Amino acid sequence: MKIFDVYTTCQIEPVRGSGCYLWDSNDNKYLDMYGGHAVISVGHSHPYYINAIVSQLGEIGFYSNAAKNNLQDKLAGLLGKVSGYEDYSLFLCNSGAEANENAFKTASFITGKKRVIAFKGAFHGRTSGAVAATDNKNIVSPFNSLHQITFVQMNDLDTVEKELSAGDCAAVVIEGIQGVAGIHEPKKEFLEDLFSITKKYKALLIIDEVQSGTGRTGKFFAHQHTSVRPDIIAIAKGIGNGFPVGGILLSGEIQPKKGMLGSTFGGNHLACAAATAVLEIIVDEKLMERAESIGNYLIKGLADIKNGCGSGKIKEIRGRGLMIGVEMEPEYASVREKLLSEGKIFTGQSGSNVIRLLPPLTIGKSEADLFLESFKKLLA
Ligand SMILES: Cc1ncc(COP(=O)(O)O)c(C=O)c1O
Repeated sequence: MKIFDVYTTCQIEPVRGSGCYLWDSNDNKYLDMYGGHAVISVGHSHPYYINAIVSQLGEIGFYSNAAKNNLQDKLAGLLGKVSGYEDYSLFLCNSGAEANENAFKTASFITGKKRVIAFKGAFHGRTSGAVAATDNKNIVSPFNSLHQITFVQMNDLDTVEKELSAGDCAAVVIEGIQGVAGIHEPKKEFLEDLFSITKKYKALLIIDEVQSGTGRTGKFFAHQHTSVRPDIIAIAKGIGNGFPVGGILLSGEIQPKKGMLGSTFGGNHLACAAATAVLEIIVDEKLMERAESIGNYLIKGLADIKNGCGSGKIKEIRGRGLMIGVEMEPEYASVREKLLSEGKIFTGQSGSNVIRLLPPLTIGKSEADLFLESFKKLLA
């Protein structure tokens, strides 16, 4: 049997990781500026994280949601405290797509409506509803057209209001910062006004923080740089640091109905141990503060390169904290491959010419300098 050939993979196989570094089978060392797609939040092989999972496995690794699991309550309590959403409730699942799928279902249960407004360039995952709300025709199958999704240009409030005024919308879904589209943050005033108009038309606001959450932008969620407190927040990726964990936070003003959602593996003992350890490390090591300061340092360093040897080669630098997009002029996009082959630095990509930086939140100034120096050298 062969593995489905659906991914575009580079030829390097990481076999070991520590902190912000990876090693391949030939013992070559790489700087991880990609975090396995914004998943590695507290660094590779963090001893506290490993110990939390291993010791939990020694007690009990899994039991069904048909039985009580206090680890879920402990995780919800800590997540509420760290994120500032103590009055919300938490449903646990296993991935970002599932989180969004459950968010849409919840919105539909609560409002009794079906239509969802999403934004051009959006990515919300690969399951049926989540992919239908994703603006990429190549990954939406005919089956997904069963869902009623309307795409609107981001920051175009008038069009969103026109759509909402039809009265058939369950929700508006928006990423805290669009990741796959190439790091695009909604304007602060737009997000705040969007929240008000969803209230006016009795639709729910879902913010997808799967990629932009878990402290990556310097606040626990990217939308916390605004005054918005959404009805539903989708989380995944960094909250598990590689252990599959997803979830939705639901406003305390909304009462979930018994039986409306469910999952065999969601909120299992190992997942709770992993996510709890991640949150404890984020607090203990002040990783949100670090994401902000090292993020600012990287953005400033990149701006200096753009004004120097990157002039005419770097088109734009976007982002916040450790969620940064460097849009290259198309003829210089191959610098990303050179970063990997010559600089031994993993980065992510959006489209054909945006380099995406999503390093572990544990990144230090020396790693930021290593990246900036290598990038500068390769561009010069
Ligand atoms: C904003 C956003 N939502 C949802 C997802 C889907 O997450 P998963 O692959 O865990 O289903 C992703 C994955 O990249 C994402 O970036």
